[in-house]
Amino acid sequence: MKYDFDEFVDRTGTHGMKWERTEALFGEKDLLPLWVADMDFRGPAPVIEALARRAELGLYGYTHRPDSLLEAFGAWMEKRHQWKIESDWICWSPGVIPALTAAIQTFTEPGDRVIIQPPVYPPFFKVVTENGRELVTNPLMQRDGRYEIDFEDLEAKFRTTGAKLLILCSPHNPVGRVWTRDELERLEAICAAYGALIVSDEIHADLVYAPHRHIPLAALSERAASRTILCHSPSKTFNMAGLQAAYIVIPDKGLRTAFNKTMAKGHHTMSNTFSIVGSESAYREGGEWLEQCLAYIEANIDYAIGYMENYIPQIKVTKPEGTYLLWLDCRGLGLSTTDLKLLLLRKAKVALNDGLSFGPEGEGFHRLNAACRRATLEEGLKRIRDAVYS
Ligand SMILES: Cc1ncc(COP(=O)(O)O)c(C=O)c1O
Repeated sequence: MKYDFDEFVDRTGTHGMKWERTEALFGEKDLLPLWVADMDFRGPAPVIEALARRAELGLYGYTHRPDSLLEAFGAWMEKRHQWKIESDWICWSPGVIPALTAAIQTFTEPGDRVIIQPPVYPPFFKVVTENGRELVTNPLMQRDGRYEIDFEDLEAKFRTTGAKLLILCSPHNPVGRVWTRDELERLEAICAAYGALIVSDEIHADLVYAPHRHIPLAALSERAASRTILCHSPSKTFNMAGLQAAYIVIPDKGLRTAFNKTMAKGHHTMSNTFSIVGSESAYREGGEWLEQCLAYIEANIDYAIGYMENYIPQIKVTKPEGTYLLWLDCRGLGLSTTDLKLLLLRKAKVALNDGLSFGPEGEGFHRLNAACRRATLEEGLKRIRDAVYS
């Protein structure tokens, strides 16, 4: 079927964070929300129908995860990412962040060092520090607007800090890189040389634009599989973060048993009934919707980049290879961090994610979510342009 991503969906009264919490979180009225990674689109029709059928039953008791769900997820991984997985490699978590936390608690001790690669998704900092582990950063390098991994620094950080674990963001939020096979192999080789495990957050894996191709880290080799905790989820792909489900693929039996023990200790063993129904129908029947959705978002991205080039050239944007996030380099506006924030919030009335929340490397940047109706995007960009020139 043909989906209409220009459809206006009124989310008033749904408790959706993006539209209902913006004023409270940003402290300003009448903001256009272009921040949190949540799409403004209705999901795939088969998912909506499956959830409605399940809701109609009126019985929402304890629900187990059926084999059919694991088969659907496995088939999705094989078809979409050419990676064949075994059903018993799949562990469960109510979200990727709880899984990152569990991995840190399981595979490191208090005081151990954990490496992350900023600018990066803000909770990566918190899951390390709030668990009493020490944060070590291997900042990405920018070359002609494109971010790359600083392998020399990564090797030096392992050598000098004895870090035990690296949290990889693949594809990378917020910079939109889809790491190549060569980059992943180099990274994995360094981790292997220092005996470190890799928690690979691949929540954006299904949101990639041709010719780029996502490669699951654990699919690289047997050695990579033996040291990877891979976090996947339908929440970004199908816009169902509120259903709270993530699928954590851990090919190594020892690592898997230890991870599951931590989850069981926290009594995170049951799944939300609707997350099971929603995930299975999305993985089985959501592909058609996703293809159309990605085409719509990519056109939005191209539109936004063209708009910036034509009307606000002081703001630079490199086309993301994956994710629906635009990492706006606003340094050309020549404003202080505070003045830039005030310009966007008070004058333009747009709510974006402040680059500084992704680490000090994000200073002067803001993140814009392009997974919205074209009309919303046009309005947001116009507001920014008017504010810059007023
Ligand atoms: C890289 C990354 N990891 C994890 C999450 C959130 O995962 P969850 O809601 O499953 O905890 C997000 C959400 O934006 C994200 O961008």
